[in-house]
Amino acid sequence: MYKNITGMKDIMPSEVSKWHFVENNIKKVFELYNYKEVRTPVLEFTALFKRGVGEATDIVEKEMYTFNDRNGKSLSLRPEGTASTVRAYIQSKDYANSPLTKYYYIGEMYRHERPQKGRYRAFNQIGAEFFGPSTPASDFEVIQMVEDILKSIKLKDYKFYINSIGCKDCRPNHKKALVDFFTPHKEKLCKDCQRRLDTNPMRIIDCKIDSCKIIAQDAPKISNFYCESCSKHNNELITLLENSDIGYQIDPKIVRGLDYYVKTTFEVRVSEEILGSQNTIIGGGRYNNLVKELGGPNVDAIGFGIGIERVILALSEEINEAPLNYAIVILGNTSLSPALKLVHKLRKNGNTVDIDYRLGSLKSQMRWANKNNAQKVIIIGEEEVKNNIYIEKNMLTSEQVKKTFDDL
Ligand code: HAM
Repeated sequence: MYKNITGMKDIMPSEVSKWHFVENNIKKVFELYNYKEVRTPVLEFTALFKRGVGEATDIVEKEMYTFNDRNGKSLSLRPEGTASTVRAYIQSKDYANSPLTKYYYIGEMYRHERPQKGRYRAFNQIGAEFFGPSTPASDFEVIQMVEDILKSIKLKDYKFYINSIGCKDCRPNHKKALVDFFTPHKEKLCKDCQRRLDTNPMRIIDCKIDSCKIIAQDAPKISNFYCESCSKHNNELITLLENSDIGYQIDPKIVRGLDYYVKTTFEVRVSEEILGSQNTIIGGGRYNNLVKELGGPNVDAIGFGIGIERVILALSEEINEAPLNYAIVILGNTSLSPALKLVHKLRKNGNTVDIDYRLGSLKSQMRWANKNNAQKVIIIGEEEVKNNIYIEKNMLTSEQVKKTFDDL
């Protein structure tokens, strides 16, 4: 028997109602905010992610599915959606059509991580990217949209965490302060953080290893290093948030694991009791230099990614499968044609209809209808066809009525 690849799950029909519920509600919110869907391939040239996500990130260094194609070109399965979306934005020259562009996407991403609850090697993200705006008001709108999304899917017990991680002007001073702070503790840091001390010391701040966490407690905070522009941007965003009913917390530990972020970053987490250590369901922030770095114009941007598997694990809401409106019981050969015509008419009228195509006895077709939770059963026998009628049974009340084929 063939089995799926470790960390790559099937989503079976019994679970799919929840997926539709989440995807459809989120799409509706995107539409309210004027976002348009973009679909990009799951495979890209590896160089895009090296440049886009960052060569020194865990994702690019350790987690990508990378291989050479038959022409010897290095390709990678997308580990996230932002780099591909930015590439498509630049390639399509959509920026020339409008100074502000809003995209959203839904799709599978691939990271060779250690699988555990809420962490998979193939997982689905719904993401949004807003190209063009620089204002704190646009950050606020994105955060408000995330809040509306969480409300639309009735997710409870989540918390919004916000930070600003500075920009290319203020980060060098912070980086130097971090290197000075962590270097005396280097031997006590985990192997990854020892490497991060050279590549990206900010990432030590959100290391999940206890010994690193203890050392990082007193690390210099970026907020003490903000340049004037970052300070102003952050203050304006906080003012907008304070004047709204969005509950949030400032968390200086949000540094994000991808290199492109500047200024505003945010995460939404649910409690560890629900999701264990993989409790961040949404992550996002500003990435003002990425479009230019990938060969596009100088366009600021902000976006976020929602992990659908994690959201679904966190949903307490029972989502019922859509019921089957009609099951059709067909008895005898001459009933088949009129029955199939009736089925097609019902479907055209927007009803969900199905037939037990084994066409067994009345008893076995009724059993099948019951198992499929049919709301109504239509019984069509040879006698009924002769008289141009059929029997409709309401499965909830057991009430039976005779109807003519013309009634439809
Ligand atoms: P990210 O924080 O790497 O950001 O991923 C976003 C979300 O995807 C996470 O919060 C989590 O819910 C989900 N996720 C990530 N890795 C896994 C995994 N191995 N298994 C299950 N779920 C996972 C990004 O990917 C950015 N592209 C988000 C963004 C868009 N920033 C700006 N625009």
